[in-house]
Amino acid sequence: MYVAQPIEWTDRGVVMLDQRLLPAEEVSYTYTDYRDVAKAIRDMVIRGAPAIGVAAAMGVALGVLHSSANSVESLRSECTEICDTLAKTRPTAVDLFWAIERMKRRFAELSAHHSELSQIRQGMVAEARQVHLEKKATDEAIGGFGAEFMPTEGQVMTQCNAGALATGGIGTALGVIRVAFQQGKKIHVLVPETRPYLQGARLTAWELHKGGIPLTLITDNMVGHFLKTGKVAAIVTGADRIAANGDTANKIGTYQIAVLAKENKVPFYIAAPVSTFDLALPDGDHIPIEERSAREVTHLQGVRIAPDVHAAHPAFDVTPARYIAAIFTERGVARAPYTDALRALAQSAQLASAAPSTGS
Ligand code: MRU
Repeated sequence: MYVAQPIEWTDRGVVMLDQRLLPAEEVSYTYTDYRDVAKAIRDMVIRGAPAIGVAAAMGVALGVLHSSANSVESLRSECTEICDTLAKTRPTAVDLFWAIERMKRRFAELSAHHSELSQIRQGMVAEARQVHLEKKATDEAIGGFGAEFMPTEGQVMTQCNAGALATGGIGTALGVIRVAFQQGKKIHVLVPETRPYLQGARLTAWELHKGGIPLTLITDNMVGHFLKTGKVAAIVTGADRIAANGDTANKIGTYQIAVLAKENKVPFYIAAPVSTFDLALPDGDHIPIEERSAREVTHLQGVRIAPDVHAAHPAFDVTPARYIAAIFTERGVARAPYTDALRALAQSAQLASAAPSTGS
């Protein structure tokens, strides 16, 4: 089954599919400068929490690989600058910061063991590639856990794009749907278009259609109607950041879907890797919400659709944990009360990653 490839490390550089042009055109660029990778993340050439984590890891590797530093000390200070640049791209998805922290830790390990710059550089490239490989495995595991919660036959709603384009694997929410579909479940996906950036209409519809999974595209203001008329068996979305108590930031519009789901007794699930947890934040009120350009609201594909008035564009909202029936992760399924469940999953992920690494 077709799986989109949003990002890839190659000998020529980091190749990214320009998601801004989908579904009309499939255009890829090859990046050799980490500053261009940072710009690509900010400008949404690549988007989706895990995918921007992979892009950040590859950006750090690219920066270190092409740095002109000639001592470990100067390479270290350049690595810090590279990481700072990549960290300033998008504020909400914690995967970005998780990936940057991991690359920093790897630099520290490598520079403690090697004085040869080439070994440090190659080690950083290997780590970025490893991050990508692990994301693929993570998605498969999330899919396996989540698929069990999908109906044998019926409609499942999602939001935004939490598919292959958003992760570099098979996707989180769409990974769950994909695995369930491959198991023979007769799933039909309801895809809200996800204004203003239209990740649902442009990306999720494109991915599902290419993968042969049946779908119906709806506008965002049809969500209540479809939930109320009993046409939806379950909802599954991704996440950009999950606080210690289970409150979850995801694409703007997710909160109202979750509230309507509860009102209509439809289970609302989150599918996300443990790297999306931010257990240092007690609740969702502490999650930084990215405010994007109002032009993305007043214009559609460059065409003005509103008068020249003030427009708001919070790119994410927070769904309180009480609306979430379960959170699917690669280490298992969390259910309320989330504080203990998330902590246990995070510990289990830590133990798994303490197993032998990729070598030094
Ligand atoms: O602004 P985006 O397109 O990066 O937002 C993406 C989302 O909100 C996704 O639903 C989320 O990152 C989960 S992706 C697996």
